[in-house]
Amino acid sequence: MARLRCAIAIDNLIPAGEIFAVSTYDDVAEWYDAWLGPGSLSGDPFWPAAEALLGELAGRNVCDLACGQGRVARHMADLGAHVVAVDLSAKLLEIAQRHEQAQPRGIDYVHTDARTLEGIPGRSFDGVVCSMALMDIADLAPTLRSVARVLRPAGWFVFSILHPCYNTPPSGEMATPQGWIRTVSAYWAEGFWRSDVRTGPPGRVGAYHGTLSTYVNALTDAGLNFERVTEPHATETVAARRPVWVEIPAVLVGRCTKTAGYATLANPGERQDVREV
Ligand SMILES: C[S@@+](CC[C@H](N)C(=O)[O-])C[C@H]1O[C@@H](n2cnc3c(N)ncnc32)[C@H](O)[C@@H]1O
Repeated sequence: MARLRCAIAIDNLIPAGEIFAVSTYDDVAEWYDAWLGPGSLSGDPFWPAAEALLGELAGRNVCDLACGQGRVARHMADLGAHVVAVDLSAKLLEIAQRHEQAQPRGIDYVHTDARTLEGIPGRSFDGVVCSMALMDIADLAPTLRSVARVLRPAGWFVFSILHPCYNTPPSGEMATPQGWIRTVSAYWAEGFWRSDVRTGPPGRVGAYHGTLSTYVNALTDAGLNFERVTEPHATETVAARRPVWVEIPAVLVGRCTKTAGYATLANPGERQDVREV
């Protein structure tokens, strides 16, 4: 008989677009740093797929968007990039600064909201990286417009997210005689959700579900055009822990380029639908 393991409970689903003034990551900052653990990036099963899309970093001006405790920022600085790392959580930035003090790399940490990137001038960066965080930010469209604003023309944006097709609020997994299968429903229920059963961030602070078309269209509307999409296979470690991820991708990784000649408006809240001549 099939055994059902519901990995995610439907809990506290609220409409997308709700603005939270304070990052809930402030409440769990020390837990999150410990949960990632030391050497967290080298042990991250999905980071190599994102890193493969970055290209040469030495000498580049790069933004780590929603940097958390700064693991990606530190790695990119070690590869020779000039890094500005941004997050809404003051407590996570304090932890990132602790790492910086322990081993200075010249990373600038900025406490600002990804939805506006207030205080960051337009066209500041050759590239922006957002690792496993777009689904943690309340409003996708203004965030992506801000990314486009701070990129130089033809700059790149690399992101990784929980795969939106297989991580809906009530998704789960089931062992069958043919192997593990993922169960997915409520795909169009976009918005905030929090899990009662997940042990990682979706269980502690929740996340925002958006459909694949919402992501693709929001990127395109912001003037960020896809160059590459990857759906990394599970590593042996992931496969041993969660065999269902051998069957389907847990994470979606993408690289976009800012459309050449795309205008960046002074007001980051406005639509960027004006093209430069
Ligand atoms: C799962 S963590 C990922 C952190 C980091 N990118 C990494 O890979 O370790 C999500 C991050 O998104 C940040 N975040 C959520 N909403 C944000 C916002 N509006 N502006 C900036 N950062 C935000 C949180 O504070 C948290 O650090």
